Order: sequence, then C-alpha cells, then structure tokens
Amino acid sequence: MVLIVNGVKHEVSLEPDVELLSVLRNELNLTGSKYGCGEGACGACTVLINGTPSRACITTIGSVVGKEITTIEGLEKNGSLHPVQEAFLQSDPFQCSYCASGMIMSAVALLNNNPAPTDDAIVTAMNGNICRCGTYINIVNAIKLASNHK
Ligand code: FES
Ligand code: FES
Repeated sequence: MVLIVNGVKHEVSLEPDVELLSVLRNELNLTGSKYGCGEGACGACTVLINGTPSRACITTIGSVVGKEITTIEGLEKNGSLHPVQEAFLQSDPFQCSYCASGMIMSAVALLNNNPAPTDDAIVTAMNGNICRCGTYINIVNAIKLASNHK
C-alpha cells in the first residue's frame, strides 16, 4: 500500500493492521514521533492526518491510505522552521523534550483552526498531550507566542 507522508508517497509492503508509528519510525526513519504509552493516552506520537492531530501508536496504516500524514519532520519548509517550531525554539519550554514533537503537532493543528486561541482553548486542545516534566505553563506560553506570529 502507499502512504503519503510529508507530501511524499511511500510504498510499504506490510499488513494493514500495522501501527503507523512503527512504520514511521522503523520503515521510513522518521523518528521525530515518539513512542510513549503505546495506547493513545499520552500524545507523544501525535501526527496530523488530513490536518487532524492523531495518535500514530493506535492508528493502523490501512486506515490512512490516501490520506495526508504530516509528521514533525514535515513542518519545516525550504529550510525554514514552521512558525510554531520557531516560537517553541525561542521560548524553550521543555525539560527532557520527550513530549515536544507531539506537543508541537497538536499546537500546529490548534493554531491552524484557531489562530488566536484563549488560554482555555489552548488547555482544552492540548489536554491529551502529557508532559511528564510538568512544563505545561511554559507550553501554553509558547503556543501564545506562536499565535502572535500569525
Ligand atoms: S505513544 Fe501514542 S499516545 Fe502515547
Ligand atoms: S519536557 Fe519532559 S515530558 Fe515534556
């Protein structure tokens, strides 16, 4: 089957019930999406599927054939980071950064839908992304900074 990842078509010869996260990391060498809980509860593996934040660890590849899959590696364009990446880089919100990729992908989806979210809207949108280091306040501030860039 063919997967469209970051605008590039990839032919993969795997069963349709294989999880997307393992294909991204192990077959396509896109290791920005992280394995955390493996059961859809932490958000470390978040990617965009047709623009919607989705947990790659519980998404089968058979369910995303023909859809646009965007990983953290696909945000940079022509050598320039995405404005959300720039804002996170500038505000440096993380400690260990294991949650960073998933947080940024969820933030990108949020700001695509709502360029000027309230604090409550940010908290609601980011609710499924867990940061074990507890840097939530910093992350909200980074998203607010990114929203000002738009
Ligand atoms: S690793 Fe996918 S949600 Fe935790
Ligand atoms: S910075 Fe460590 S899990 Fe978020």
